[in-house]
Amino acid sequence: GLPQQVTVYEVGPRDGLQNEAAVVPVEVKAEFIDRLADAGHKVIEATSFVHPKWVPQLADADELVGRLHRKPGVRYPVLVPNQRGLDRALERGVDEIAIFASATETFAAKNLNRSLDSQFDMFEPVVARALDSGVRVRAYVSMCFGDPWEGPTPIAQVVSVGERLLGLGCYELSLGDTIGVGTPGHVTALIEAFRRPERLAVHFHDTYGQALGNTLAALRAGVTTVDASTGGIGGCPYAESATGNLATEDLVWMLRGLGIETGLDLGKLVDTSTWLARLLGRPSPSRVVQALSKG
Ligand code: HMG
Ligand code: MG
Repeated sequence: GLPQQVTVYEVGPRDGLQNEAAVVPVEVKAEFIDRLADAGHKVIEATSFVHPKWVPQLADADELVGRLHRKPGVRYPVLVPNQRGLDRALERGVDEIAIFASATETFAAKNLNRSLDSQFDMFEPVVARALDSGVRVRAYVSMCFGDPWEGPTPIAQVVSVGERLLGLGCYELSLGDTIGVGTPGHVTALIEAFRRPERLAVHFHDTYGQALGNTLAALRAGVTTVDASTGGIGGCPYAESATGNLATEDLVWMLRGLGIETGLDLGKLVDTSTWLARLLGRPSPSRVVQALSKG
């Protein structure tokens, strides 16, 4: 069966903007996040406290978090890889973070400068200190389906990394198809290999056009949280061939057709995507945005 309600975890301001050539001014980012909250989003991943040289697009994270107009009932998590990132987030009063691990050796090296095993030496003290400080922690695991250097990722390897992250005390594990190579049968098999599907979220990049099909497979397997980005922007600067995320509008269109509640206003989402596309100087890759926008 399918769930009656789905939580859309919006990653546009973080995954979307981290991969744009244009550096977006901090006040525009703040307005973007306000618009998303106004469209009904309850969770908006705002930015990353990573090394500013690694992701210059989000080097203004400290200032942006200071400028957020926090709407009651809306969560504004941020990415944090290490203790330095957590220091910065705590200084800004952040109350929810997301750590991001790799399921493969090569991507751990490229994205985190760590090995598959030593990434946990970085994450363990971060999660422990965050939880001690009353900060909720989500975990991502990237390259869950395949990796550009290593090929298909063995399911057992993803489960091993993922269960270890949940074991640290993370409230949710988001399964990342960083380069968009997954297909629905693989999604079902991966989710079934985990002990508790209700603790899982899915994070599909749409490189091969499989993101919606993969999402439907995940919902049927018991997942109720789906990551998506405004207008389908996004990607990862440390993974070649990573294109945009599943577009929020495409997701909402499908869910609405299935009678699944999201609390999101599709018209406002489309308006925000067209507004952002104009600022970024390129049209939204979302088919639903293209179909519904007036020009
Ligand atoms: P490192 O070079 O190993 O860092 O990078 P280090 O611990 O050796 O520290 C070196 C220097 O950097 C030190 O300064 C630190 O203080 C400083 P020094 O003492 O030499 O003056 N430093 C920092 N400064 C500010 N903020 C920090 C920070 N950390 C260290 N947080 C590190 C390790 C993790 C920092 C680096 O690899 C990094 O920033 N990586 C981030 C890469 C990234 O953001 N990738 C995109 C996000 S992941 C993604 O998109 C996938 C996802 O969407 C899911 C999916 O699609 O699958 C989540
Ligand atoms: Mg991503």
